[in-house]
Amino acid sequence: GDGIVIAIDGPSGSGKSSTARGTARAREMRYLDTGAMYRALTWWVLHNGVDATTADAAAVARLAAQPVITMGTDPTDPTVRVDGTDVAEDIRSPEVTSGVSAVSAVPEVRERMVALQRDIIAEARRDSGGIVVEGRDITTVVAPEAEVKIYLTASAEARAERRSREVRTSDIAATRADLMRRDLFDSSRAESPLTQTEDALELETTGMSLDEVIALVVKLADEAS
Ligand code: C5P
Repeated sequence: GDGIVIAIDGPSGSGKSSTARGTARAREMRYLDTGAMYRALTWWVLHNGVDATTADAAAVARLAAQPVITMGTDPTDPTVRVDGTDVAEDIRSPEVTSGVSAVSAVPEVRERMVALQRDIIAEARRDSGGIVVEGRDITTVVAPEAEVKIYLTASAEARAERRSREVRTSDIAATRADLMRRDLFDSSRAESPLTQTEDALELETTGMSLDEVIALVVKLADEAS
């Protein structure tokens, strides 16, 4: 196949998911939300009665090795299943959101998820027009060979506003505090921290509409194909 890979990293609320999905739809590519995979494992850990935020890493690692995680990569209907159970709604709960940074910092968890992500990417390269993959370590660890690499950012205010709209809360200050907490944790962890590298193009989207951002990424992808 001649499918290309578009890798998008960035902090919480930077618009990664909407941008990645919109680009995949526009170019008829597949779409992979790697954050949903870490959220799915966090849901499993909580579902098994372990407090993700305080549990020892060994207990999290043991649990995280168990379930089959299945990702549907159609950008119009992305799905996530844990041992066959559709968890698309449940993984957006405040409990999962609070625990996911701690779970995703466990090395065994990352090892397993990165292997699965690379399998999905290889299959999309072979069998389709390629894939748009978004997360925190896609440009650096999961797919450094990607044809297009983007680091998406926006001001803290813009990110808090966007995320508040998404989760339908009017408490922008609390949303902002939660984003800052997760960003600090995700950027300072030992294992594959969120980092901006020289070879990823920085896209600062604070003053841009979603359609403008998507159009720009589509143009970059067209040029790289
Ligand atoms: O993108 P989203 O906010 O849903 O990601 C949830 C969490 O999953 C992030 O805060 C981060 O801790 C973790 N994550 C990660 N590596 C990725 C994607 C997400 O560690 N590639």
